[in-house]
Amino acid sequence: MSKTSPDSSPPKGVFEGHKKVERNVTLLAAATFVAVAIGGIVEIAPLFWIDNTIEKVEGMRPYTPLEQAGRDIYIREGCYTCHSQMIRPFRDEVERYGHYSLAAESMYDHPFQWGSKRTGPDLARVGGRYSDDWHVQHLKDPRSVVPQSIMPSYRFLAETKLEIADISANLVALRRVGVPYTDLDIEQAGNDLMAQADPDLDEGDLEERYPKTQVRDFDGDPSRVTEMDALIAYLQMLGTLIDVESAAAQAELAEETGR
Ligand code: HEC
Repeated sequence: MSKTSPDSSPPKGVFEGHKKVERNVTLLAAATFVAVAIGGIVEIAPLFWIDNTIEKVEGMRPYTPLEQAGRDIYIREGCYTCHSQMIRPFRDEVERYGHYSLAAESMYDHPFQWGSKRTGPDLARVGGRYSDDWHVQHLKDPRSVVPQSIMPSYRFLAETKLEIADISANLVALRRVGVPYTDLDIEQAGNDLMAQADPDLDEGDLEERYPKTQVRDFDGDPSRVTEMDALIAYLQMLGTLIDVESAAAQAELAEETGR
């Protein structure tokens, strides 16, 4: 063993300390925990003080009660197992589906519907792409409009009356996780729900509280409000709230991409 010169070896104290830590598993574990915890706190702690990590973009608003009900049906029926709602910033996706998705576009999604698999196309911007009639026909019998489709039929939605025990309670729950529904939104939820699908009802200030709300009979059966009405109201809203080309969105994008 070669003898190290006294000035190249670490000071005796440091060496002794390190020796102690290295040879004592408990002490090593405790010291490791402290080191990792510092790293963790530095990353996590700021999140407790900032309200939101997502920049708000003009036009994005909480979903109307009818859209929210449609969204719940979308989740219940497992549409997300075949459809994503997130257009990635790749040329093939942008050319096929439209502008890539912004973080703000799913800020009121609890849970988000980004999806992890596409058996069918992405639906993030499907709103307005087809007529209501097309959706009704497609959901009832997909192969009648797209012969090679493997999508299941959801005919029963048109025959099922939309029944929600207490839509206000749904909005209250969403408010608890950060969706900014006002007291008035919650109070009016039942009326809002019916009024959006039935143009004969008095819609009150629905369109002021929820800009860009589409009010009409969606399923082609004005006599009642069905699950089909709710689901199509939801689909027709997807991707229509934010005008991605507008100045506000452009500014946000510039910030996001650092340009
Ligand atoms: C088994 C997988 C599967 C499930 C589950 C499924 N879809 Fe589809 N969907 C497809 C496929 C495949 C297509 C493409 C062919 C077609 O248009 O039918 C499609 C197409 C669509 C389209 C047309 C999109 C476009 O841009 O052309 C819409 C809208 C749609 N599905 C909505 C739904 C909804 C709503 C549900 C749930 C009620 C659902 N899908 C459930 C597979 C599925």
